[in-house]
Amino acid sequence: MQILIGTKNRDKFSEIREILSDLDLELVSAADLDQLPDVIEDRDTITGNAIKKAEEMAIRSAMYVLADDTGLFVEALSGAPGVYSARYAGEDCSYRDNRVKLLREMSGMQERNASFRTVVALANSDGEVIATAEGIVEGEIILEERGDNGFGYDSIFLCHETGKTFAEMGSEEKHKISHRGRAFRKMLTEIIKIIQDTGGIDG
Ligand code: IMP
Repeated sequence: MQILIGTKNRDKFSEIREILSDLDLELVSAADLDQLPDVIEDRDTITGNAIKKAEEMAIRSAMYVLADDTGLFVEALSGAPGVYSARYAGEDCSYRDNRVKLLREMSGMQERNASFRTVVALANSDGEVIATAEGIVEGEIILEERGDNGFGYDSIFLCHETGKTFAEMGSEEKHKISHRGRAFRKMLTEIIKIIQDTGGIDG
């Protein structure tokens, strides 16, 4: 049984593969399908972008698609970088550029609460979105990087539930509580239902 994971980002794909590892599914990365163009993430919410990616990739591939969009929402910055988290420091910026910019923007701020939010959308092979799910994790932006694991903003996001940054956690520990882990686990019920209803999701 195949399902397309609507991301070309290898870090995200390997996290999602680990999160869904209990299901008997063959996960295909968007990076491995030649005919799939990049979807322009131009909606003003992460939900809008997740739905757009799932719809467009399902139409292009004629497969079931799970597509997600994530943002880091900092309270004291009115929710920034939010939907612009990937390109906070500009087009083609690195993960490090984004972290440096965020720490600079927050310099001198006492109020540092933040949350990671992921919305995942599931589209059928006709490009219709049949379910969405959201996962949230609360924490704060610390003053200096801590830890060597993960990617993106992991080393400056201190998770309130564990007292560690995501970069100080192993991948299993991160997935148990992370925004992405929570969103995809909520979606498991939907995926299992489809597998049962259709006898498979070969697209
Ligand atoms: P995306 O929509 O999932 O690609 O996420 C947008 C941006 O948010 C990424 O480019 C990363 O900078 C950041 N991001 C997403 N997920 C995570 C995470 O789990 N840890 C740290 N940063 C993340």
